[in-house]
Amino acid sequence: MKILTIFGTRPEAIKMAPLVQALAREPSVTSHVCVTGQHREMLDQVLDIFHIRPDYDLALMARNQGLNALAAGALAALDPVLEEVRPDRVLVHGDTTTAMAGALAAFHRRIPVGHVEAGLRTYNLAQPFPEEMNRRVVDVVSDLLFAPTARSRANLESEHLEGRIIVTGNTVIDALAATQARIAADDALRAELDRPFAGLDPKRRLILVTGHRRENFGEGFLNICKALAQIARRDDVEIVYPVHLNPNVQEPVRAALSGLGNVHLVAPLDYLPFQRLLQRAHIVLTDSGGVQEEAPALGKPVLVMRDVTERPEAVEAGTVRLVGTSSTAIVSAVTALLDDAATYARFANRTNPYGDGHACRRIVDTICGRAVDAFAPDFNAHPAAAPLQGGAPVSTCLL
Ligand code: UD1
Ligand code: UDP
Repeated sequence: MKILTIFGTRPEAIKMAPLVQALAREPSVTSHVCVTGQHREMLDQVLDIFHIRPDYDLALMARNQGLNALAAGALAALDPVLEEVRPDRVLVHGDTTTAMAGALAAFHRRIPVGHVEAGLRTYNLAQPFPEEMNRRVVDVVSDLLFAPTARSRANLESEHLEGRIIVTGNTVIDALAATQARIAADDALRAELDRPFAGLDPKRRLILVTGHRRENFGEGFLNICKALAQIARRDDVEIVYPVHLNPNVQEPVRAALSGLGNVHLVAPLDYLPFQRLLQRAHIVLTDSGGVQEEAPALGKPVLVMRDVTERPEAVEAGTVRLVGTSSTAIVSAVTALLDDAATYARFANRTNPYGDGHACRRIVDTICGRAVDAFAPDFNAHPAAAPLQGGAPVSTCLL
């Protein structure tokens, strides 16, 4: 069976990498990988870490390009790849323009589509924009819907879609488990990952920040920066902010926060250094989808700078709180976590509603026609006891 996996951005690459590796190990599958290159530097670092050499690289990234140019370019460039490979199935991930164009291009050629991370919804087309629309389009045309959680399955069922739904857990936990175990097992690697941050004062608590959502461009980012500048007035915190390469993020963030002594604006980090900083973080402030899933698995309180989330599971579990982008709300939520030990303890439960590290196995088994056990987090057990890849408990992956 010929499978063509299509992805193009950093988060898709991280979440598809363990699946590409699992497909490569499957004797009945011939695996081809096509990257659109929607991202460049941020994609390439993930390909390097996971040793993935794409068969096709469409190199579509252009500085600050519009969504229509990107979508049109992806559809046009993907078609000859589909013609050449003639896959039995295409796999796409999540909610990016690459995923939407990849699914549509395959659909137009009547090639079955498997959607990894199907069924996440806010039911608000403006947030996240344009991702909510992208994800719905991919789900409509897919015949295999790999839903990460029971919630995403229920969303898909309520929409009466044609695809078969399989609850797999999120592949982000497969990637995280393997990476955290690698970092935990290797003292030299840890020292190397810590070296660029040797200047951080270990007595101060580390706040890790990421942000890039289109709906936060403009006023949202100005408010976020205002909040960070105010938090930075405290002498007991260090703020590390790897700034997304999108010029709509780079420009306001660098203008507002450069020069503050305890705010460290750095280039987007490679996946391993970022995973290491997640381990070291006291609080995570983010509008990212993937970081919202990773941090709870490591017991890190997460404040999400959005009004709605398509990932409500960790909010319900109590480790994630939506704070929006009002600077007052952000400052007050961070202050509560820093100054009130009881509040911090309530958030810092290690919980893993998003996966058990076996999502890729379930996806490959489904594609190959084998029986599959659905992912079900065991909320009756202590959440931290949820097994990760290879049966290792979460705690063995921590330092
Ligand atoms: C995209 C996805 C978003 C995902 C995010 C992850 C869409 C519509 N958006 O948003 O869902 O959460 O990726 O990061 O698919 N750039 C670089 N180098 C890079 C990457 C980006 O310079 O390696 C700059 C370029 O100027 C590029 C711009 O960032 O044009 C925007 O990139 P784009 O992929 O369009 O959107 P993101 O905001 O990254
Ligand atoms: N990440 C990274 N380096 C960074 C910031 C994030 O490797 O500097 C990883 C992070 O571990 C997560 C993914 O990138 O797996 C999330 O990507 P992003 O926030 O760009 O996109 P989203 O998840 O919001 O689509």
